[in-house]
Amino acid sequence: TWVLLKGSSENEYYSLLLLYLKWSTLRKVKSRSWKKQRHFRLLEDGMTIWYKSRWAGKGHSTFSVTEVEAVREGHQSEVLLSIAEEFSADLCFTLVFHGRQGNLDLVAESPEEAQAWIQGVRKLIHRAQTMDEKERLDQWVWDWFQKADKNKDGKMNFKEVRKLLKMMNVEMNEEHALHLFTMADKSQSGSLEIEQFVHFYKILTQRDEVWKVFQDYSGDGEKLMLEELENFLRVEQQEGEQSAQHAQELIDSYEPSESAKKEGAMSLDGFQMYLCSQQGSIFKPEHRDLYQDMSQPLSHYFISSSHNTYLLENQLRGQSSLEAYIQALKRGCRCVEVDCWDGSDGEPVVYHGHTLTSKIVFKDVISTIKEYAFKASDFPVILSLENHCSVEQQTIMAEHLSQILGDMLLTTLLDGQVPQQLPSPQELKGKILLKAKKIGGFEDCLDETMTDEVSDEEDIANGDAESPTVENPPAECMNENDKVGACSTFSLCSTKVYVFMTICYTFLIISINLSSGTEFVQYNTRQLCRIYPSGLRTDSSNYNPQDMWNVGCQIVALNFQTAGLEMDLNDGLFRQNHCCGYVLKHDFMRDGNTQFTPEKPEERKDYRPLRLSIQVISGQQLPKVNQKEGSIVDPLVRVEIYGVPQDQAKEETSHINNNGFNPVWNETLNFIIHTPELALVRFVVEDYDKASRNDFIGQFTLPFTCIQAGYRHIHLLSKDGTAIPPASIFVNVSITELT
Ligand SMILES: *[C@@H]1O[C@H](CO)[C@@H](O)[C@H](O)[C@H]1NC(C)=O
Ligand SMILES: *[C@@H]1O[C@H](CO)[C@@H](O)[C@H](O)[C@H]1NC(C)=O
Ligand SMILES: *[C@@H]1O[C@H](CO)[C@@H](O)[C@H](O)[C@H]1NC(C)=O
Repeated sequence: TWVLLKGSSENEYYSLLLLYLKWSTLRKVKSRSWKKQRHFRLLEDGMTIWYKSRWAGKGHSTFSVTEVEAVREGHQSEVLLSIAEEFSADLCFTLVFHGRQGNLDLVAESPEEAQAWIQGVRKLIHRAQTMDEKERLDQWVWDWFQKADKNKDGKMNFKEVRKLLKMMNVEMNEEHALHLFTMADKSQSGSLEIEQFVHFYKILTQRDEVWKVFQDYSGDGEKLMLEELENFLRVEQQEGEQSAQHAQELIDSYEPSESAKKEGAMSLDGFQMYLCSQQGSIFKPEHRDLYQDMSQPLSHYFISSSHNTYLLENQLRGQSSLEAYIQALKRGCRCVEVDCWDGSDGEPVVYHGHTLTSKIVFKDVISTIKEYAFKASDFPVILSLENHCSVEQQTIMAEHLSQILGDMLLTTLLDGQVPQQLPSPQELKGKILLKAKKIGGFEDCLDETMTDEVSDEEDIANGDAESPTVENPPAECMNENDKVGACSTFSLCSTKVYVFMTICYTFLIISINLSSGTEFVQYNTRQLCRIYPSGLRTDSSNYNPQDMWNVGCQIVALNFQTAGLEMDLNDGLFRQNHCCGYVLKHDFMRDGNTQFTPEKPEERKDYRPLRLSIQVISGQQLPKVNQKEGSIVDPLVRVEIYGVPQDQAKEETSHINNNGFNPVWNETLNFIIHTPELALVRFVVEDYDKASRNDFIGQFTLPFTCIQAGYRHIHLLSKDGTAIPPASIFVNVSITELT
């Protein structure tokens, strides 16, 4: 049976799909010289793509359609472009994966076959994305069944089931497992078919802790009537006024039983479905949308920014790639770095100067940026040009910029007026802004003495490798008479390109003194400040961006290619406001006379500390850390707060031995948050190891202001920031004023 055929038979592509996706020979391409044939097919679950080389014997590879972010048609990758003359565009396509996993470049034998794969995989991705919670769960159980049913007879005996439990990361008492198995095996055949297995799975995943909450609010213990659900939403979920309307909406969306729905009630299944949904998650749904005012000056926003954008790996030997720009822009990054050097054939190139990183052509970088700039967000993209080029090649750069970007490039003042403040993201929608340094043309606005103090990243040789570097105009440039935009003509030498961002900029490298925070915060209400990792780093590691956000720095550039805590914080901050790459600073960071200093949050006018209490209740289906048979995780949950220095804190639960499937912690962690507006909360799940460092299992980071109180699930992400459903933790969050 083909799951994917269910309800989608009207689609003509499915017949093609079946024809081709059952067994296709495609050429996998890694480079101009590495092109090898592989057999590809779609497995019966309609989700897994399997492939192997003809000679590989039993060895094969698989990936799930849910890992694929997009299918690109034709020569739309560096690798396929390099073989464009050999294989025509209608044979070529690229599968792009979520996270940091590299692309899969493929060449089909005929255009029809290529189309079948392109359209087919797109349909499958769409289907996977639009599945509701129940379908998702069915699919997940189905997947496990397929994996466990080694002899492919559509049945599973007890031995196979026991193996399956291991794969699902659950250590279970054999007697208990046999008991559940017998209960599910209604036909007493000694094996389970898929429906019986679903039933078995249901018994296995019964959630006592959810059942208890349900019982507390259900009059008859069977269902929640509308008023009871309303009551639950008001009391536990702290939804106040909206709870009446919301209760009805939840029944409409999540109740699987038609009869309960008619009655205006919610069953335990529906209740659990709601709690596990995005709406029931810890992240306020309304903060996922574009909910902030976008008409304030740019300096009032935090801007998602990347450093050494062109690199895929590390900054000494890594590969420079257009893909790195695509990945950053698609993650909502709004400030990318372009490091330009003279190319040998007259075309400027982009790479990490004086290193072994590979080079890409400037012109291609700009074309790629043009294509991807506004796919994830309409709001302006800033090109941070690091210009090391000769006069001749600067002229070529300027020509490429204006020819390729055309109207997108902001080349004149908005309204032709010299504005009093920076323009807003709203006004600059669809525009690309240039920010450049070490380029002449500031004479009109700058004091002569300032212009020569420009230095390079490399110049701070005695700087501390751990502390980030600030780019920022000298204090003299900030006096009240400064008309923002007054000297916005910067010339890429001979050719005039007007650049808005270079207002009075000559860039000084200063090491910041955080204890004089107030001034810095005030300064950042008016001017843009860019921070980037110190030039002494060679390993593309990141610094903690939180300290910089605390003082209102907008452009805090991180190495997007490097997964870890710092990128989790960046992803966490920018997950709100429709992931558009701009987050409005709170009003005490926008007021030019603000007295706020991160060191002394209690001196703020409207200081209002909060108590955050998180009861970590249980975990669901945590993935195995290493796939070694017989190893089951010992999970613990740690809650980490990032914010002003006083708010930095970590608390963790104890670990649960040998249970990644349904651990129960039932421990409460408490925090006092002095500056909630700046705090980020990171939930980390680790596999406890008494002999060495704990292994990372999953995490989720979000702004404190986006937390919904009540009983909530936290859907975990991998190290790479991609979803790992259905892994989650269940918590009871309470936020109260500190009195
Ligand atoms: C930082 O600023 C404080 C207060 O303005 C001052 O007392 C201190 O000397 C400064 N430290 C450095 C390293 O400049
Ligand atoms: C968890 O804690 C609650 C109240 O603190 C208690 O009622 C419940 O029995 C506990 N559950 C477990 C499994 O320990
Ligand atoms: C969840 O938190 C609320 C508010 O603090 C509390 O009333 C409730 O008892 C908690 N639930 C459990 C199971 O402890």
